Amino acid sequence: MRFFPKAALAKITVLGIAAFAPSITALAQSSPIITYNSQFHPTLAKTGMVVSQEHFASEAGLEILKAGGNAVDAAVATGFALAVTHPQAGNLGGGGFMMVYLKDQDKTIAIDYREMAPAAAYRDLFIGEDGEVDRRKAMFSLKSSGTPGSVKGLVEALEKYGTLPLAQVMAPAIKLAEEGFPMPWALQDSLKRYGRRLKNNPTSLAYFYKEGGAPYQWGDVFAQPDLAKTLRAIAENGSDGFYKGWVADKIVSTMEAGAGLITLEDLANYKVRYREPIVGTFRDVKIVTMPPPSSGGIHIVQMLNVLEGWDLKELGHNSAQYIHRMSETMKYAYADRSKYLGDPDFFKVPSKALTSKEYGASIRGKINLKKATPSTEISPAASLPEESNDTTHFSVVDRFGNMVANTYTLNFTYGNSISVAGAGFLLNNEMDDFSAKPGTQNAFGLLGGEANAIEAGKRPLSSMTPTLVFKDGKPWFATGSPGGSRIITTVLQVILNVAEFDMNIQAATNFPRFHHQWFPDQIFVETGISIDTRRALAAMGQNIDVKTKDGESKVLGAAMSIMITPDGTLLGAADPRRPGSHAAGY
Ligand code: DON
Repeated sequence: MRFFPKAALAKITVLGIAAFAPSITALAQSSPIITYNSQFHPTLAKTGMVVSQEHFASEAGLEILKAGGNAVDAAVATGFALAVTHPQAGNLGGGGFMMVYLKDQDKTIAIDYREMAPAAAYRDLFIGEDGEVDRRKAMFSLKSSGTPGSVKGLVEALEKYGTLPLAQVMAPAIKLAEEGFPMPWALQDSLKRYGRRLKNNPTSLAYFYKEGGAPYQWGDVFAQPDLAKTLRAIAENGSDGFYKGWVADKIVSTMEAGAGLITLEDLANYKVRYREPIVGTFRDVKIVTMPPPSSGGIHIVQMLNVLEGWDLKELGHNSAQYIHRMSETMKYAYADRSKYLGDPDFFKVPSKALTSKEYGASIRGKINLKKATPSTEISPAASLPEESNDTTHFSVVDRFGNMVANTYTLNFTYGNSISVAGAGFLLNNEMDDFSAKPGTQNAFGLLGGEANAIEAGKRPLSSMTPTLVFKDGKPWFATGSPGGSRIITTVLQVILNVAEFDMNIQAATNFPRFHHQWFPDQIFVETGISIDTRRALAAMGQNIDVKTKDGESKVLGAAMSIMITPDGTLLGAADPRRPGSHAAGY
């Protein structure tokens, strides 16, 4: 029996993700701690490190570490700095998740600062008069914005787990916004690519382009005085500087001018949630990762449970047999995602059942090792075992051994491309992560149903998966990635490349990746998976898609990770798939 109507499944297409893939041959490294004799060397540091997608933001975090701050102080500094220097995904107007490991308490906290649906939102918000989903409204209107969580998330993380005053931690971001910074190549290139969308909104046009709409050139000083004022209001008044007062008024007047839903009450009612992390094991390694409303943590543990029953090393990294078993596993996980995952405050997510070793083994038993099972023949589990119940990622490690993994987003690159006039920041289009109608895909081709239907005050299901990995009881590495639906499989492959294939963290990041998400029934492979391998997979009945757009190879995710070696050396890996990504350490 199929969970979704065939007609809906036939229509599924997926938006692609950006540029550059390395052309390399897969060879496992001999030891995760050896950094020489490897194709890819990580950045080394002795004391503390920040790895993010943008140079100035990593340096902002490093400045705070050097000033005596801990990993949370540095993470908050980097989070606010990315809102200035990486407006594609760094944000004040979005939301995200932060995993914090506190060494002295040997404890991990999962902070959920995901956007919430405004009180006026309802199930059929995006259904047009023809009964179909109005994709434009779901992706690019003011109704696509959920109530932002980033500012409250970062401020509360600092209050609870940081050590320095907010004004000190925000100082680098305020300086970058007030005085400006040389426009990085990656930002000028991205502003050219997304010009059509951003220029549709007069406020975004004024904020991100020169007079008359001319683009900034690489190296031009880019200052953002309105954003600087908003950052100052937050530095002086904490999150009230954003959720109340003149900034809140400006968000609401932007909403009122364009039929948006967010009100002053929605802003005042926004709440950060502290969730119990998802914990799993893969052989002798412990994985501590993000629980719902992220789907990522549950499915990574679910997939590792399936994969643990096979000797993957013997199959060979990125061999056809390896990719086949991984892809079949991914199909089952994404099928379950469509039915069982949503905001746990609104829907009882069967986390324990989905992450149990028994359930993993039952999926493993269904996988044909020689032949692909078409996605149309795979459904979310009818019942589960009984149970007793352009995003951006950065990682930070400090001199105490604390770790932070943070993924936050506006959803699309530049969110819905609409800026808040007078306050200098872009709004998210996270409401598109809800399932607008069962059997209809969202922008990432993901399917969903009741568990992820729109409801007032609910948080849309996410794939963002900030993750911390432990070995022999000690913190080992922090990782995470952007990439929409591909985040989960990107993080899975980084973990396996290290834990199963003994790669150092940079090699684990660089090697080509692949992705299957049940529907569409295709394995997306990056450049670097050989033609022989692709032919062998096709012979097993797998559909292969080497994504390209305008002649460029497309890539899967952009992992930003830090590993701690047994002697305490920090190995930073900034993903070369994103220009400008930077590991800063001391
Ligand atoms: O929360 C999610 O799963 C999506 N809003 C993430 C979007 C994303 O990763 C876009 N980036 N490349």
